[in-house]
Amino acid sequence: MESHWALPEGNPWSTPFAQALLHHLDLFPGARVLDVAAGGGIPAFYIADQVGPQGYVLAVDIHHNQVLRARGMQGTRMPWLQFEVGDMRQLPPNLPKFDRITGNIAFMFFRPDRPAALKSLVQFLKPGGQIVLTWPTKGTFDSLWRRVEREMQSRNLTVELGRFQEYLDERPSTDDARAWLCELGMKNIETAEWPLEIETGPGKEFLGHPLLRSGFLDDVYECFDDQEKAEEFMQTIADDLNSILPLTAQRGVLSGWKP
Ligand SMILES: C[S@@+](CC[C@H](N)C(=O)[O-])C[C@H]1O[C@@H](n2cnc3c(N)ncnc32)[C@H](O)[C@@H]1O
Repeated sequence: MESHWALPEGNPWSTPFAQALLHHLDLFPGARVLDVAAGGGIPAFYIADQVGPQGYVLAVDIHHNQVLRARGMQGTRMPWLQFEVGDMRQLPPNLPKFDRITGNIAFMFFRPDRPAALKSLVQFLKPGGQIVLTWPTKGTFDSLWRRVEREMQSRNLTVELGRFQEYLDERPSTDDARAWLCELGMKNIETAEWPLEIETGPGKEFLGHPLLRSGFLDDVYECFDDQEKAEEFMQTIADDLNSILPLTAQRGVLSGWKP
């Protein structure tokens, strides 16, 4: 069957992560799926199309405006797909159980207690059900972080460097994720990392890059109390872009099955 809801081409971030997720997801017509951190519906629309009218997809996002946006795109189509506001770390306990739980670019938002959030989510999985999550893993943009570290060291920015290293240490690797799922008694756990090169140019193109800025560069800015100093620091990094390229994200995938 040809899908009516293909993943959007030309999306440089959500679509490639969703492709990695779908590669590991074992879907079937009629499945009941919970998609967390659903955002604008990648891959919820695609999954709903695959499970068909006998299935059901509950797509949850914490931000009301995201849910409204997704509902707007849906219109009256695929009524078995439902977008709702909810915090994936603490969903209502009376929620029914699902055959599959998915979360595309979701795992980093399990903060602050990732194992507890994972445990809470897995309880909504039926026995024999599968969970598949993706997120940019610890190795994402490693060349950039090494350059930031070198620059902080050469300028003796001890406080900023300490904060920056805390931020880096806090990012989960696929090994961390595997261990947490293993502790929950999940079986057939698989992890993978799929590299994804991100295109950017020097100067403003780099510093204002919509994907890099909000999800990653802002974390460096936050290490500085003085934002003017941060701006000047980041300008130096942007001017030395050639030493950072290629800029490679790692699309981490975690898959596991409930016994
Ligand atoms: C990077 S976007 C991914 C959206 C979509 N899955 C995609 O691939 O395009 C992450 C989404 O997670 C949502 N989010 C963040 N924390 C959340 C939480 N605790 N519970 C539910 N959604 C959350 C954000 O509102 C945002 O829409």
